[in-house]
Amino acid sequence: MSLESMAERTAELFARCFGHAPRWIVAAPGRVNVIGEHTDYNDGFVLPMAIERYTVIAGDRNDSREVTLHSVTTGETATFNVREPLTRGEPSWSNYVRGVVAGFQQRPIKVPGFDAVIASTVPFGGGLSSSAALEVATATLLEAITGEKLEPIEKALLCQKAEHEFAGVPCGIMDQFTSILARENHALLLDCRSRTTIPVAMTDPSITVLMINTNVRHKLADGEYAKRRSQCQTAASALKVPFLRDASAKALKAGRSKMEPIAFRRARHVISENERTREAAWAIQAADWATVGRLMYASHDSLRDDYEVSCQELDVMVDLAKPIRGVFGARMTGGGFGGCTINLVAVEAVGEFTQTIRNGYAQATGKKSGVFICSAADGAERVQ
Ligand code: GLA
Repeated sequence: MSLESMAERTAELFARCFGHAPRWIVAAPGRVNVIGEHTDYNDGFVLPMAIERYTVIAGDRNDSREVTLHSVTTGETATFNVREPLTRGEPSWSNYVRGVVAGFQQRPIKVPGFDAVIASTVPFGGGLSSSAALEVATATLLEAITGEKLEPIEKALLCQKAEHEFAGVPCGIMDQFTSILARENHALLLDCRSRTTIPVAMTDPSITVLMINTNVRHKLADGEYAKRRSQCQTAASALKVPFLRDASAKALKAGRSKMEPIAFRRARHVISENERTREAAWAIQAADWATVGRLMYASHDSLRDDYEVSCQELDVMVDLAKPIRGVFGARMTGGGFGGCTINLVAVEAVGEFTQTIRNGYAQATGKKSGVFICSAADGAERVQ
């Protein structure tokens, strides 16, 4: 569904729920990470792009202190009062909104009561940043409601804090940054330390980026993500550097005996992934798709073996993709434990690829897969 028709439908629903047209409509995209996984919270490099899947919010302020949110996806309504101290609450998706409202209040920016209808085409739990899309869409709506525009980096950090404090996921900065700063037809090489970005054109007409959803829902709040983060900190401390970004492969080898084997493997992933990510950005600029693909496979192997965030279904997807003619590379994307793979495929091979994957995945796992083509989209915007 196009963004325009999503916006129209969400506005119609708003009018049905609240009895008048919405004053504002905002949209924030999900993202796919081409390469650079679990590097952002190590101050490293990532190479994501936004996708044409959006969270759209239609909203208007009201004359009370109440916030009323209606989710099209779940059919639930959430309410809370902006005068009372904001805490986590039910339904769970409302926490992303609560967290962003709290962030504005802490600025301090006064947030009035408002009504909103939320719709989304970013699959929930698919590793495509549905939560960041909701946070960034909320922040974009609040900018419109309060008339206070935030600097993009400040906005991304506010949304990240909402996720830390109201959803309990100690995520890095990649998802919120991408949903705000992404550029149409480009991936972004983001240096998570300096928070600077280099746009990398993704406009080669002979290449298609395909996402495949394993339909296994990933859950990052169950502790595995936080565990990885602290294992990386342990490895960095053993190497006497602030973050793994500051360690080289050579230093890691020399320091191997100073840490548990598990911390060593986590660090090996992060250090090698940082190298792969920068190399991939150069290779994309040179349209050297064979190299990009090789780096993607290496990234997947490292996430599976050293970082242990893959799962059987993701591995099946990558193994099925590899031998198909015209496939340059495939890997899991996002936090892992389910969700999607990203696949780099020659345009003329897309038909055969889709068919082979669908059948092979169903045969191997008894599950259905969802395939869709991705083009690099712009970051969050006010549609109305
Ligand atoms: C999740 C987090 C990101 C990042 C990825 C893994 O999507 O929100 O910050 O750490 O996992 O690369």
